[in-house]
Amino acid sequence: MANDKLQTAKSAKNDEFYTQYVDIEKEMNAYIDYNPEVFKNKTILLPCDDPEWSNFTKYFAQNFQRFGLRKLISTSYAVESKKYKVNYQPSLFEEEDEKFDIDKTRIKGKIFILERDINNDHKINIDDLEWNYLEGDGDFRSEEVKKLRDESDIIITNPPFSLFREFMAWILEADKKFAVIGNMNAITYKEIFPLIKENKIWLGATNFNKGMYFGVPENFVYASTYKFEREQNGIKVNRVPGVCWYSNLEHGRRYQPLTLMNMIDNKKFSKHKEIKNIGYIKYDNYDAIEVPFADAIPSDFSGIMGVPISFLDKYCPDQFEIVNLSRYLEDSRGMSKEFVQKYYEQGNKGQISEGHPDLCYFDNNGNAIVPYMRILIRHKNPR
Ligand SMILES: C[S@@+](CC[C@H](N)C(=O)[O-])C[C@H]1O[C@@H](n2cnc3c(N)ncnc32)[C@H](O)[C@@H]1O
Repeated sequence: MANDKLQTAKSAKNDEFYTQYVDIEKEMNAYIDYNPEVFKNKTILLPCDDPEWSNFTKYFAQNFQRFGLRKLISTSYAVESKKYKVNYQPSLFEEEDEKFDIDKTRIKGKIFILERDINNDHKINIDDLEWNYLEGDGDFRSEEVKKLRDESDIIITNPPFSLFREFMAWILEADKKFAVIGNMNAITYKEIFPLIKENKIWLGATNFNKGMYFGVPENFVYASTYKFEREQNGIKVNRVPGVCWYSNLEHGRRYQPLTLMNMIDNKKFSKHKEIKNIGYIKYDNYDAIEVPFADAIPSDFSGIMGVPISFLDKYCPDQFEIVNLSRYLEDSRGMSKEFVQKYYEQGNKGQISEGHPDLCYFDNNGNAIVPYMRILIRHKNPR
């Protein structure tokens, strides 16, 4: 129970992480480099935002004309509805506006719209943003925000991490283009992985597995183990390790095949001690070879290969087919009795038993190994 509470508090805290301008710019540049007209005549919705100071709103408002946007809509979630209690103070911008309402400011979401030149300076930019309170609290699941979703072409945001599954389902049910930030673990979700396998969604172009620094509220308390930078560009930040962008907008990195050596050359020249002079080990319970590093994928192997999840950052759909994720294997032969026995003799504490479907192998020294989750892939043109 106490643990549950702690977990809820932790994920609520993680919901208030604000994306830095440079991270948005880098990712959007990749889409624009691939297709300079990607945003032309499009309506972009930025949900789960705090438009008065969000870098998403700022970035798209500043670039409204350059991108040729039709309309920019940005919505925020009411401060009273947020799970993580921040020290809320309405902005001067809101307080000085005639629409300011002392009650609504805490319980209503806000909407900001940019689509026309309201100050007659012959430009459409951040000064032309029009705002209002929403009817409700700005929950992305509300009918009100769903309507905004439906009228939009592209949805871009860093949604609350604790609601990532629901948020993705919300985008996908409306069949929208999107670019959103999420936890890397989401790759393995049963709702997400099949879409990655079918090339309906993919990883973004930047920041994979590097750890991103997000702005955090003033009253944010760091974990006792936190040892990274606490300030960047004058704002309080917190580094989150395993995050990445998810998208269905095209970018060039997806079309850059990996340059690889064949099996014989890998065995002779690989920089990895696990491969050099050894070659590739077959799984004990599945017809595939273990390839522990993406750059050690042999170019001429036509069978199935198990690679770490980080391969996805290098995945070029013209080069490889994704067959499955080890977690979802239905045709594994299961772990043998000998394997399980050896595994426990080595002092491992993992919970496995005979018939367990996870991939496993005996390494060159006869050790029983269960590799961390693997993506199973196959070359489209082995050579
Ligand atoms: C990870 S933060 C990111 C904020 C902003 N998009 C950015 O990147 O700077 C997610 C935001 O979504 C808000 N939020 C939480 N639950 C929500 C919900 N059900 N509907 C809409 N917004 C929500 C949180 O309060 C938080 O402000």
